[in-house]
Amino acid sequence: MPELDPIVARLRAAGCVFAEEEAAVLRSSARDEAELAAFVAERETGVPLEHVVGWAEFCGLRVIVEPGVFVPRPRTERLIERAREFIRTGDVVVDACCGSGAVGLALAVGEPGIRLFATDIDEHAVAVARRNIGGRGEVVVGDVLDALPREILGGVAVLTVIAPYVPTGDIPLLPHEARDFEPRLALDGGPDGLGVLARVVADAPRWLAPGGVLLTEVSEDQAPAAADLLRAADLTPEIDSDEETGSTLVLGRA
Ligand SMILES: C[S@@+](CC[C@H](N)C(=O)[O-])C[C@H]1O[C@@H](n2cnc3c(N)ncnc32)[C@H](O)[C@@H]1O
Repeated sequence: MPELDPIVARLRAAGCVFAEEEAAVLRSSARDEAELAAFVAERETGVPLEHVVGWAEFCGLRVIVEPGVFVPRPRTERLIERAREFIRTGDVVVDACCGSGAVGLALAVGEPGIRLFATDIDEHAVAVARRNIGGRGEVVVGDVLDALPREILGGVAVLTVIAPYVPTGDIPLLPHEARDFEPRLALDGGPDGLGVLARVVADAPRWLAPGGVLLTEVSEDQAPAAADLLRAADLTPEIDSDEETGSTLVLGRA
């Protein structure tokens, strides 16, 4: 029997399901043996891998993350795929509730000719998003869409929004990595999980260009209610669920 890699063994013992992959990420991120030992010890205490190493892989990109900022999820890559269908060079693109800025970054890397705006209510998230997005766009602090510049009213071709969408009563059921290391503000979507999304959708029509599209991610059982919110805002909804990635998207066209 080949001997088990000691780091993989420790990660497995700590309950990491993808211990081999995690060991590879820790090794590739540590600058020396001392840092690697510190990373392994931190991960053993349950700190999310991405917060230990300071980055998350998203759409093939290294996205900076910090403790206290939402870690972009792999399922969200589907929202990027769908959003890219609608984006043309020169378009104004807005990513609301941007967190680390992963969504905007991936869209701007895919189509560098867009005018990108990202916004979030959390100053810490905005600081991280500014580092990720750099010169590719503007990142502003504000509630829902309130901080966007007035000059883009009626001109937004694509509006992405992944608002917090966990119903308040389900927060205790989340894995402890989310509950203990991601801010409540990034998770808690109110009684039905759709509180922040509802406010973005209600304000979206005055920002969207004719034919513009809003794309959001929710849980599968929230999709019909999210589609109703879009309908009430005069947007034509489409629900797009993908079993393989576990992603449920709701799109609305102006
Ligand atoms: C689920 S996270 C999504 C982050 C990012 N879009 C992603 O997918 O990685 C939700 C984000 O919404 C932000 N947020 C919560 N309430 C908000 C509000 N009223 N206005 C703007 N942003 C808000 C949180 O700070 C958090 O960064």
